Amino acid sequence: MARRDNRGLLALAGGALITSRVLAVPVIQEPTTTFDPPDATGEPFLDNENTYLFSHAASDIPAPSPTDTEGGAAIGDFTPAPLVPPGYQPLGGVGVNSSSPVYEATSEYDRQSLILALYQEWAELDFLHQGFAAYTDMDFEQAGLRAADRHLLGHMADQESGHANAVTKLLGGSGPSRCTYNYPHQDVHEYLDFGQKLTRWGESMVYGFLPHLESREAAQIMTQTVSTEARQQMIFRQYNGLHPMPVLFEAGIPQAWGWTFLAPYISHCNATIERVVWQNFPRLTVINQPNPARLDASKSWNETRHDAAGTQNNDDIKVGEACGLMCGPGIAHDRARPLSYPGRDVFLQWDSPGEPVGPDSSYSTSILAGPPLYAAWVSATEVTYTPLLDISGNSAHTYQPNATTYGGVPVINGTMYIAITDAQVGVSSFNLDRINPHVVALGMYQAG
Ligand SMILES: *[C@@H]1O[C@H](CO)[C@@H](O)[C@H](O)[C@H]1NC(C)=O
Ligand SMILES: *[C@@H]1O[C@H](CO)[C@@H](O)[C@H](O)[C@H]1NC(C)=O
Ligand SMILES: *[C@@H]1O[C@H](CO)[C@@H](O)[C@H](O)[C@H]1NC(C)=O
Ligand SMILES: *[C@@H]1O[C@H](CO)[C@@H](O)[C@H](O)[C@H]1NC(C)=O
Ligand SMILES: *[C@@H]1O[C@H](CO)[C@@H](O)[C@H](O)[C@H]1NC(C)=O
Repeated sequence: MARRDNRGLLALAGGALITSRVLAVPVIQEPTTTFDPPDATGEPFLDNENTYLFSHAASDIPAPSPTDTEGGAAIGDFTPAPLVPPGYQPLGGVGVNSSSPVYEATSEYDRQSLILALYQEWAELDFLHQGFAAYTDMDFEQAGLRAADRHLLGHMADQESGHANAVTKLLGGSGPSRCTYNYPHQDVHEYLDFGQKLTRWGESMVYGFLPHLESREAAQIMTQTVSTEARQQMIFRQYNGLHPMPVLFEAGIPQAWGWTFLAPYISHCNATIERVVWQNFPRLTVINQPNPARLDASKSWNETRHDAAGTQNNDDIKVGEACGLMCGPGIAHDRARPLSYPGRDVFLQWDSPGEPVGPDSSYSTSILAGPPLYAAWVSATEVTYTPLLDISGNSAHTYQPNATTYGGVPVINGTMYIAITDAQVGVSSFNLDRINPHVVALGMYQAG
């Protein structure tokens, strides 16, 4: 361990004191430009680009010998990390033996999950930069976002850049690079709405695959990544005048769902970058998608940008109908009228499979399911089915269910998902991907 430089404290304390005691002398410090601390050595797995050195543990450290109960060898100037003695360590646990962590995803399942996550990180980074290119400070001001709020968006972009670096390292330096994108938003409110949807499915997708990764090291980095993204999602909701966190649990979704939402917004990628293996489902449009920009969000008809996520379209909202200042950016709003309600008649329309989507239209939507019969409402930890009514070609309607969870709290709330299915499949959060062979189309629903 490197010792802290205590010359300043010694000088303050005078020569007579025993040096080991003076370290704790409190002192009010002023910022100074002449202070010259020794190099910090506290973060051995960070390189100077602020990214993780995953190969370090794998190649530089000699494997511990069978008799080496203290664990791995020294890393540079560092003391080897010992095992926690038995009295302080219960039996069981995974990854708590003397092996050093290896920050590398090797199984194909892990790799394909991380490749998808990296596509998502690049899209989020580009989206955050693009907002500043598309809208002026005045545009943001008019939507209620002041300088510090805009700086926060810039800070989120830096976070995405770090995340993209970390995931690239987990992939051993391979994986997709930044592509070009097409966005649905036409003003700052729509920008913020798309932002809270983009980060919502990105967050859900990582929750969906985290427990299934073979690499615990990768899972931890992804947990630390997605925790930041969850904060971004909440802030986008708050910028958009929505309740910050109306559900008890944040939903997880399968990789194929994440890719279904993301792919349509990627217009072009370098041909050499790695392809995604996950399925693309046909787009589901909620014709009366609740529009938070309205005072009465439920009273909206055909007010989206007709995109995969159902981004709000505010072109036709008249002055008296707009939510305005009452739904401006804020920590929380108690909206007099919730965005949706149990029993709401929800009108749905979906595309047929076989549509080209994704970068350079090089992917195609597909289904394995039979005729559509149900709407599966996926929110929090629940999957709730309602029957499709008056099915006619690729459209039908259904009623918003009155599903509740622990303590009777409504489940159908927040930015959530609706899948059209051919059956009521018995799945839960952990194996939601097993619904995929029954999915006819997939969309998002702005329940609250
Ligand atoms: C530690 O556990 C991992 C995962 O179970 C295993 O692959 C590795 O061989 C173990 N290392 C030692 C030194 O027992
Ligand atoms: C969603 O949650 C918020 C906050 O608890 C609540 O005000 C609103 O009524 C809920 N909306 C629905 C559709 O249940
Ligand atoms: C595309 O690939 C070329 C050649 O490998 C590279 O120079 C360029 O930077 C790449 N573009 C992007 C956006 O990654
Ligand atoms: C929604 O509006 C679009 C034009 O923006 C139109 O093509 C489409 O038919 C409308 N759909 C419904 C269900 O009214
Ligand atoms: C929804 O269910 C809850 C709990 O069962 C019940 O208290 C409430 O009245 C129901 N609401 C509607 C609109 O049916």
